[in-house]
Amino acid sequence: MCGIIGYAGDECAVPIIVDGLKKLEYRGYDSAGIAIFDGGGFNVVKQKGRLAALEEKLENTSLCGNMGIGHTRWATHGEPSDVNSHPHLGSGSKIAVVHNGIIENYKQLKARLERRGITFASQTDSEVVAQLAEYYYKGDLLDAVIKTANALEGSYALGIMCLEEPDVLIAVKKDNPLIVGVSQNANFIASDVPAILKHTNQVYYLEDKEIAVLTKNGVEFFNTDKEPLTKQIETITWSVDSAEKGGYPHFMLKEIMEQPKVLRDTIQTEITKLPDISQFNKIVITACGSAYNAGVVSKYVFERLCRFPSIEVDLASEFRYKDACVDEKTLVILVSQSGETADTIAAMREAKSKGAVTLSIVNVVGSTLAKEADYTVYTAAGPEIAVATTKAFSTQLAVLYKLAVKFAVDLQKISQEEAKTLSDEIATIPDKVAEILTHIDFIQKYASTCIGYKSIFFIGRNIDYAIALEGSLKLKEISYIHSEAYAGGELKHGTISLVEEDTLVVAISCCQRLYPKIFSNMEQVISRGAKVFLVSNAAEAEEHDKLSLLKLPDIHELFSPSLSAIVLQLFSYYVAANKGCDIDKPRNLAKSVTVE
Ligand code: F6R
Repeated sequence: MCGIIGYAGDECAVPIIVDGLKKLEYRGYDSAGIAIFDGGGFNVVKQKGRLAALEEKLENTSLCGNMGIGHTRWATHGEPSDVNSHPHLGSGSKIAVVHNGIIENYKQLKARLERRGITFASQTDSEVVAQLAEYYYKGDLLDAVIKTANALEGSYALGIMCLEEPDVLIAVKKDNPLIVGVSQNANFIASDVPAILKHTNQVYYLEDKEIAVLTKNGVEFFNTDKEPLTKQIETITWSVDSAEKGGYPHFMLKEIMEQPKVLRDTIQTEITKLPDISQFNKIVITACGSAYNAGVVSKYVFERLCRFPSIEVDLASEFRYKDACVDEKTLVILVSQSGETADTIAAMREAKSKGAVTLSIVNVVGSTLAKEADYTVYTAAGPEIAVATTKAFSTQLAVLYKLAVKFAVDLQKISQEEAKTLSDEIATIPDKVAEILTHIDFIQKYASTCIGYKSIFFIGRNIDYAIALEGSLKLKEISYIHSEAYAGGELKHGTISLVEEDTLVVAISCCQRLYPKIFSNMEQVISRGAKVFLVSNAAEAEEHDKLSLLKLPDIHELFSPSLSAIVLQLFSYYVAANKGCDIDKPRNLAKSVTVE
């Protein structure tokens, strides 16, 4: 979704803001813009399309100034266009605003302002913030921002500057992330750490309705009653390099290759604070997209190890509206890389309002899910920049496995010895992933033969089906090839009618018990002319001459998705790369979906 960066310092703000916007590109956007206070007034440059187009436009200006705000916009209200891009100005050009989120009452506010003779330039909900702040401005920007924040309904992260207070940059947020970065020579606002990591690792996380007033010399915090607040500064441990491509053509490939390390870090980190599992009679795992798929995988693991009476997995966007049967005897597990996914946050709040205990598995420290959930376990994936998740997904699986083992012991469903055996097996995952990464050339070569397919199917059974869902999602999001995942046993119930000469079926088979079943599914599709790419650790697979095989290292069936996922990620990556797709920023997608 949209990205914000703001700078107040001694240097020319333009290159710093543009560089920050580049670091936010991964969030997804369709236009970008920048407003600089240049001593005389606001200079605003906005451009539909990629940042390169904005940079080109900026090259033809001599724009400079020590304070500014920048924005990458992912259109919600109003088409992607120059005029709808941010920053927006009030009609008197006194206030400049960048906004992430959705102003739900913008129509009413707009109508009120229009009745007072104010004319709007764009079709966005965001412009109403600039117009309203300008309308309220009576010589004190903080007052105007407080009044504006109180009038807005919906979600927002805002960066606001005022012509008459040229040293001040104000930030405020509600239900949308915003951080304040501080350094000796400059202060920053940003939607996300990578945007400012190059300049500082000292940040404050704004809470809802907290206001930050920045100058180049310092930052003060207030609540909406204008009372000063004391906030805790936090140190970001991510290295600057972790947000750079490091010689790889795409962040996605870099992040795939980082998996042995981040898995090791995650597996070695002890989980300290957890609820007593015996107090619950139901577990609900809820999340979106790939994080949901991690939840689907983990349902098999929880079920098998914990023998828990009721374990459900729900899409967060469904859970939040279904009037779920959860109460204080339910543990709701929320899985999220960003910790800012709007539906997952809403699901958590819904669960809490019904008395359920919430546990979040999150990658971004200080994010909303991490802060609001009753319990939080962090994945140690480091910053994930590519829109398509890889390393965060893998670390989510690792945490879920560890939880399942821990809960199984606490529920006395497995012995300490069995838990040790399982934990030892989990500890082998990083090395086995590293082994799979040595097959990169084979996967690249095979994927290069697959770019012509209009549709690719993924099949598996049980936990292999769960990971087939993720393989299919990964492929479609970055390569734009239509794809579906089916449980192998479902083929005969309708899906097989889609299989014809030269259909590609990717089969995953890591469940010993089910080898014969999935093999018979493969025979059925092969006999109808399909080609099969098999990802398996079955010895029998090597005897099959009618398919392409990627042989996986052996591992306990329950943890095998951690290995097959790597092959599926690389397969999708190379299909997309061979098709020349914009892998790190696939069309229409955003890294963190902070609006509904
Ligand atoms: C797919 C992908 C998305 C995210 C989903 C949830 O590759 O990355 O499907 O998994 O948007 O995002 P988080 O994990 O940030 O809640």
